[in-house]
Amino acid sequence: MVVVLDENKCVEIIDFEKKRKTHLDLNAYEIASEYHHLFEPNPKDLFPDVEGWLTTKEGLFLYELSKKVGSGCIVEIGSWFGKSTCWIAQGLKENNKKNNFYAIDPHIGSNEHKKFVKKVGGTTNEIFLHNLCGHHLEKYVIPIKKMSWEAINDIKEPIAFLFIDGSHEYEDVKKDFEQWFSKVKIGGIIAFHDNNWVGVKKVLDEIDRNDYSEMGIIETITWIKK
Ligand SMILES: C[S@@+](CC[C@H](N)C(=O)[O-])C[C@H]1O[C@@H](n2cnc3c(N)ncnc32)[C@H](O)[C@@H]1O
Repeated sequence: MVVVLDENKCVEIIDFEKKRKTHLDLNAYEIASEYHHLFEPNPKDLFPDVEGWLTTKEGLFLYELSKKVGSGCIVEIGSWFGKSTCWIAQGLKENNKKNNFYAIDPHIGSNEHKKFVKKVGGTTNEIFLHNLCGHHLEKYVIPIKKMSWEAINDIKEPIAFLFIDGSHEYEDVKKDFEQWFSKVKIGGIIAFHDNNWVGVKKVLDEIDRNDYSEMGIIETITWIKK
């Protein structure tokens, strides 16, 4: 199925973008600039047709991590149209990795997306699947159409890389972090998207950095190594 977003829907995404910019954490951006040398000055977005909020550098970070991932599975909380899903799956594909990659999303949108999701038929699932298939990545992804807390018992293996990008409300981010933490293997990576959102930032501020062997920031992704 081909889904073409009309102009109005695109405008709505740009509005979300504006809202996010009001919560901008300049400090996070300053730290992020230290990591820019890791990437090309103008990196190419491999998935320009897949709409989302992930920047190309953030996508490259997910891709590099997935290419290097050791034993264990990858879990993504919050897929939307599949932008981050595509970057992670591409990393697994290029290195011929056999790690399972679970992409968890009920595909009904977070609170701030409800109006938009209604306009695309009440679900983002079809666009998500269309995007994965369009890039021949569907065989690298195991979609789980549930809320993260409903999916917790579906994943039986240790997690090497957990990407948290579901609801950005403080209680929800905290719940995702606390509930999934024990499933992440020692040495595994937990990455949070949208570190400039109030709820996400609050959870990150509460984390004691001394408990982790490494942490870093790539634009609006903050990651920690367990
Ligand atoms: C910011 S979007 C994800 C963006 C996506 N990672 C990308 O790169 O485009 C947030 C998504 O999280 C989903 N979501 C909200 N609460 C969730 C939960 N508790 N578990 C899983 N997904 C959730 C929403 O349905 C929405 O699709």
